[in-house]
Amino acid sequence: MELSANAKINLTLDILRRREDGYHDLQMVMQSVTLADRLTVTPAQGAVGQAVSDLHFLPTGGKNLAQMAAAAFRQAAGLGGQVDVSIQKRVPVCAGLAGGSADAAAVLRAMNRLTSAGLSSVELAKIGERVGSDVPFCVLGGTALAEGRGERLTPLSPLPPCSIVICKPHFSISTPHLFGRVNVRKIVRRPDTSGVIAALDAGDLAGVARRMYNVFEDVLEPRRAVEIGEIKAALIDCGALGASMSGSGPSVFGLFHREDLAQEALERLRSSYRDVFLCGPAGAE
Ligand code: C5P
Repeated sequence: MELSANAKINLTLDILRRREDGYHDLQMVMQSVTLADRLTVTPAQGAVGQAVSDLHFLPTGGKNLAQMAAAAFRQAAGLGGQVDVSIQKRVPVCAGLAGGSADAAAVLRAMNRLTSAGLSSVELAKIGERVGSDVPFCVLGGTALAEGRGERLTPLSPLPPCSIVICKPHFSISTPHLFGRVNVRKIVRRPDTSGVIAALDAGDLAGVARRMYNVFEDVLEPRRAVEIGEIKAALIDCGALGASMSGSGPSVFGLFHREDLAQEALERLRSSYRDVFLCGPAGAE
């Protein structure tokens, strides 16, 4: 079975509080994008399923999120055998784009179809919670408000059609490390989450773009913040209606109402960065 696994961007990311369990309560407007990995899921050749990809450094066994998702499905549904997962990676890893979570979500969908378990998306999303905080959103896809750890999802009006340029700087950021730098009481600037939701309802792309913000941008190490700022400035300079960092970074994206301007931004950023993509919003699964 072949499937695509769409990446996501954060139109907003706000951190409300640190929880007793070490996680943080978040409020995020999440958007699926057409930038995607391609997965092939087949019954396993050996006794234990493998996950192979074109990136040699990713784990191939039980620590791969795709295999963790298969195991979580078998346990929750009481159905399904071992599967081999072959992944054509297109979404950069450790980039704030939920690439690994998207693969895990695609495996949950594949297992549901292969076993004819007939679970609903909501049931699959619940299984996904055990695999990672972004997996439930990746199961449902589209445009949604994610709260709690990221697992409480409310579908939102879709992002109007637009071109999205995503650029990943050369460095990586550890998500737990960045959460560790956050002091919730000291957050000064926050995204206008309700304003973004109202702009989505009104189909107002410029209104969404102008209100986007990610509170992680304020806790980046200074030299990282400079580079993120430069990429945002380049996107705006090329005509983006707004630009922001996605998730715990370091990917930065810009929303464009004109594809020719997005193309220009793509070419400009490609002269400095390898991982630059032009894509669009993706709908719910
Ligand atoms: O759930 P996931 O494995 O993706 O989370 C990775 C890490 O990010 C967690 O171990 C935690 O340190 C941090 N995190 C958090 N609050 C969230 C989601 C993730 O503190 N809502």
